[in-house]
Amino acid sequence: MSLRGRAVLITSGPTREHLDPVRFLTNASSGAMGFALAAAAKAAGARVTVVSGPTALPAPRGVAVVRVVTALEMRRETLKRSRAADAVIGAAAVSDWRVPSVARHKIKRSPSAVRLTLVPNPDIIKDAAERRRPGQVFVGFALETRRAAGHARGKLIRKGLDLVVANGPESLASGRIAAILVGREGDRRLPPGPKTKVAKTVVAEIERLLNERRA
Ligand code: C5P
Repeated sequence: MSLRGRAVLITSGPTREHLDPVRFLTNASSGAMGFALAAAAKAAGARVTVVSGPTALPAPRGVAVVRVVTALEMRRETLKRSRAADAVIGAAAVSDWRVPSVARHKIKRSPSAVRLTLVPNPDIIKDAAERRRPGQVFVGFALETRRAAGHARGKLIRKGLDLVVANGPESLASGRIAAILVGREGDRRLPPGPKTKVAKTVVAEIERLLNERRA
């Protein structure tokens, strides 16, 4: 129970970026990894809050869930809480783009092609890490189709994180994950396994980093 007295904030699931009242852009994230991390952190004694995009999964018991739909909502709800947390984990698959303004009425079908202009969404975990207090631990995920550890290390530096969990696209919407933990001191390849098991390892690593800072 070494996270007793600690607060952990987790972003989780996909975001949904509406084009009009009935259509949206999203991705295949199920929210399983975020909830597995929440359950592991709760089991380790932490107070846990999850800012979750739309998911069909039940939330773990004893965990506070703030439900959001879009990346901008997720950013607002995350930044409201990130400085009060001891550890912040970005497990959400945030949509990289949104339309600049959502159509108020359903876009009518027509025989001609439709052009979509998409604007980039803000990077939530990076923005949260920029507002960090000393001693906080920030963790991100990197889903890569190649050179996972190398790309993950780039994200570690660029986003100002302490740990990045690199994984492949086969982890999306699956119960299992093959992950490499990329930290400031080096990489550690974990044996592929259920997300619940890998979540426990990630939480143990967060404990270690927090204790190191307190020491
Ligand atoms: O840059 P990339 O999307 O691969 O980074 C993945 C990591 O950054 C994850 O931890 C994800 O939750 C976080 N992220 C974010 N906001 C974004 C994009 C990614 O918090 N807009």
